Amino acid sequence: MTAKVTTNIEIDGMRTAGRLAAEVLEMIEEHIIPGITTEDIDKICHSYIVETLGCIPAPLNYSNGPGQIPFPKSICTSVNHVVCHGIPTSKKTLKSGDIVNIDITVIKNGFHGDTSKMFYVGTPGILAKRLVRVTQECLYKGINVVKPGARLGDIGHAIQKHAEAQRFSVVREFCGHGIGTVFHDDPQIVHYGQPNTGLLIEEGMTFTIEPMINAGSRNVKILPDRWTVVTKDHKLSAQWEHTIMVTADGAEVLTKRKDEGF
Ligand code: MF3
Ligand code: CO
Ligand code: CO
Repeated sequence: MTAKVTTNIEIDGMRTAGRLAAEVLEMIEEHIIPGITTEDIDKICHSYIVETLGCIPAPLNYSNGPGQIPFPKSICTSVNHVVCHGIPTSKKTLKSGDIVNIDITVIKNGFHGDTSKMFYVGTPGILAKRLVRVTQECLYKGINVVKPGARLGDIGHAIQKHAEAQRFSVVREFCGHGIGTVFHDDPQIVHYGQPNTGLLIEEGMTFTIEPMINAGSRNVKILPDRWTVVTKDHKLSAQWEHTIMVTADGAEVLTKRKDEGF
């Protein structure tokens, strides 16, 4: 089933879940400094999500199919060459120059809000800064083409065109997704493609856009923990994610933070 919001209760539910997920990213900002471990970040987010916001952290014990190992933590922390699904650990201490994606998914009253952003630890290098900026621009360019009557290929094309014009590459193996009472619903939102192809976008659809952009080749591999996705060439990767709802003439960004305009 394609995630589609119909009733006012569903619209409100998705708006609330989106806003709460964004609040976690706003809260964690001041903690992202050299010396903190990704496990510390997970603990701070977990208690904020559960105790302060009264939400469920969707990643904790999440598994995407039979035989898959459940995800052991409440958030994903993906550092440097980690593309996505990094597992927080006491063994990973952040140092100046690192870049880290923090990916938050909360469940409130059954509805999911899913969002991630990149943080600089200390002072970023020139390439890291450019990759992080271009990847955020890719997300915004994808969001900007969303409206009823456009097609999913238009989103992918806008993202791929911008990334490749900067000589970066688009990860193919992971994508955005429909979202609502289900975490990963249809349709798949891929971050590459051709204009005017793919599923027609309709008012009320709710889905994520979450481009993963690599500084080197687009190829990735999964570590033996069965979750952590890294670049094959160990070059940097960045990701930004929003949950959006299609409106009559565009998109409402449900996970918008205070630092964002729209
Ligand atoms: N939040 C991720 C996404 O954007 C999914 C994480 S699943 C997990 O779809 F199990 F790794 F947490
Ligand atoms: Co997502
Ligand atoms: Co996410």
